[in-house]
Amino acid sequence: MSAQVRSQGKRVALVPTMGALHAGHLALVEYARSQADFLVVSIFVNPLQFDRDADLDAYPRTWEADHALCAEHGVDAIYAPTPPAMYPEGFATKVMVSGLGQGLCGAHRPGHFDGVTTVVAKLFGAVLPHVAVFGQKDYQQLKIVQRMAADLNFEVEVVGRPTVREADGLALSSRNVHLDPEQREQALCLRRALDRAQELAQSGERDVQTIKAAAAKVVEGASLARMEYMEVVDAENLAPLIRLEGPARMALAVWLGTTRLIDNDALMG
Ligand code: PAJ
Repeated sequence: MSAQVRSQGKRVALVPTMGALHAGHLALVEYARSQADFLVVSIFVNPLQFDRDADLDAYPRTWEADHALCAEHGVDAIYAPTPPAMYPEGFATKVMVSGLGQGLCGAHRPGHFDGVTTVVAKLFGAVLPHVAVFGQKDYQQLKIVQRMAADLNFEVEVVGRPTVREADGLALSSRNVHLDPEQREQALCLRRALDRAQELAQSGERDVQTIKAAAAKVVEGASLARMEYMEVVDAENLAPLIRLEGPARMALAVWLGTTRLIDNDALMG
């Protein structure tokens, strides 16, 4: 269908998702709508990118509500293949971006980003978008997909959009539904840790160890939270930094019970 739309000279936008749509996804949809004549949302819970079966099984699936939200937001087509349609018997190709995928989430979720790049390459091939919109909430994913699109000559502009948050600062995530009230309260430690780091950077602190130590204390203050990683990296190549000298990003992953939350924000630039 996209090939036909493209041949009429129309601009196609894609917002890839795994469904369970929330206001974070919808902000991407609205932006994409403003950029294109034909807007496609893909909904596919991609088994290749889940490193734990329990996480794949527990992933919320809300097809009816997703469908209604897409209709309300002017989506022209939903692309929602089944797993066997996406990965038929004999499927044998993997797309892997080296370097960018090694640190941060990549260090803790083996194979995760290979699963992401493989499915996103297939989505780009199937939908043929001119523009694809991703959230900065998954900053490493955004950078990896941008690298892949450039490296593999996909003629698609990969745009990153800001993280949408609850009023109290918690980044919207499909996984937030798994938090009980106490965990939900303590989940604020991610945003608060980022705030603390930003405060220090703004007041002139340049030593990453000092900034990380102060931010880690915030997470340690939440009794139910267990930090998986906290890093300060170069905003473009994601290499860990010792000093803040140019555009940098702080990223962290925190477990609350069996729910893993991630967040990140700019520290400079
Ligand atoms: P999913 O987690 O459903 O997210 C789909 C898109 O929404 C991603 O680009 C993600 O960064 C963005 N997003 C999620 N929460 C957001 C928030 N609070 N604010 C702004 N954007 C937000 O990311 C995936 O799916 C998958 O890995 C996918 C790219 C679809 C490949 O399977």
